Amino acid sequence: MGRGSTKNFVEEIEFLKRELNAVVLAHYYQEPGIQDVADYIGDSLGLAREAQGTDADVIVFCGVHFMAETAKILNPEKVVVLPDLEAGCSLSDSCPPGAFGEFVAARPDHTVVSYVNTSAAVKGLSDIICTSSNAERVIRSIPEGTPIIFGPDRHLGRYVAKRTGREMVLWPGSCIVHVQFSEKKIRQLKVRHPNAEVLAHPECEDRILDLADYIGSTTALLDHSRESGVREFIVATEAGIIHQMQKASPDKLFIPAPGDGPGCEACSECPHMRRNTLEKLAACMRDLNPRIEIDEELRLRALAPIKRMLEL
Ligand code: 13P
Ligand code: SF4
Repeated sequence: MGRGSTKNFVEEIEFLKRELNAVVLAHYYQEPGIQDVADYIGDSLGLAREAQGTDADVIVFCGVHFMAETAKILNPEKVVVLPDLEAGCSLSDSCPPGAFGEFVAARPDHTVVSYVNTSAAVKGLSDIICTSSNAERVIRSIPEGTPIIFGPDRHLGRYVAKRTGREMVLWPGSCIVHVQFSEKKIRQLKVRHPNAEVLAHPECEDRILDLADYIGSTTALLDHSRESGVREFIVATEAGIIHQMQKASPDKLFIPAPGDGPGCEACSECPHMRRNTLEKLAACMRDLNPRIEIDEELRLRALAPIKRMLEL
């Protein structure tokens, strides 16, 4: 098969899906071409559920490493491939397992809630996992009075603590994309678009969340943009989600929230997510490589808190 153009990659991916009995799962932060070829597009929770329920033999995970690793933890018998093994996550990297282990060990009476944006080793140190769409529900499921450690995103942690009224010890991590939005430039945009709603992911800093009309996970933001009667939105999360927002509501205007840095046009694109390309996607299906592999003992330790979340 000829290679090199988008059309050829898409044809090859579709052919390999059938040949391998493969399912292509993609996060909303993937480049539009990848979203268009995916069998399922979703937020972290939706993707984990989809991976749990699939009867495909091969899971092709278009997202970042911790997401593909979660799919492998749930499906040890399946082949899980990721277009670029180097697609990491700054938030996950901000929580090394050694240091987090010491943090947890110093608070033995605490229930440990970890965001899904963590390595398997950090998940293995946790009692329950959460995502941005169920964090509030997970915290409310913990009996009142139980001390809680929440990691690694301090902004999501602070937001959920405020929503639930629960005190939590926060690990001081953050996401490079969600902390770079400019409050000043969003305010200026709001002057030019007075009817626009600001949509924000809870990984954003407080000063951005304070400006938001609606706060939620990527799926929640997409659903809200579709259902809202408002016609203009300033979107404070990774700009990839706008592809689905625009598809669902072609007559509405979606403006990516500007970043703080000078000339920062693509700062709302996650550099880790964007390592995946259509070309690498076709190649990982052709070669069934790079694969996600995980030590069985570590997998079982990480599986228990993921299962607790999925059973909630
Ligand atoms: P969602 O769970 O909302 O999809 O978020 C994932 C993520 O990486 C946010 O930066
Ligand atoms: Fe990680 Fe942030 Fe990229 Fe999400 S947007 S994958 S939290 S670095």
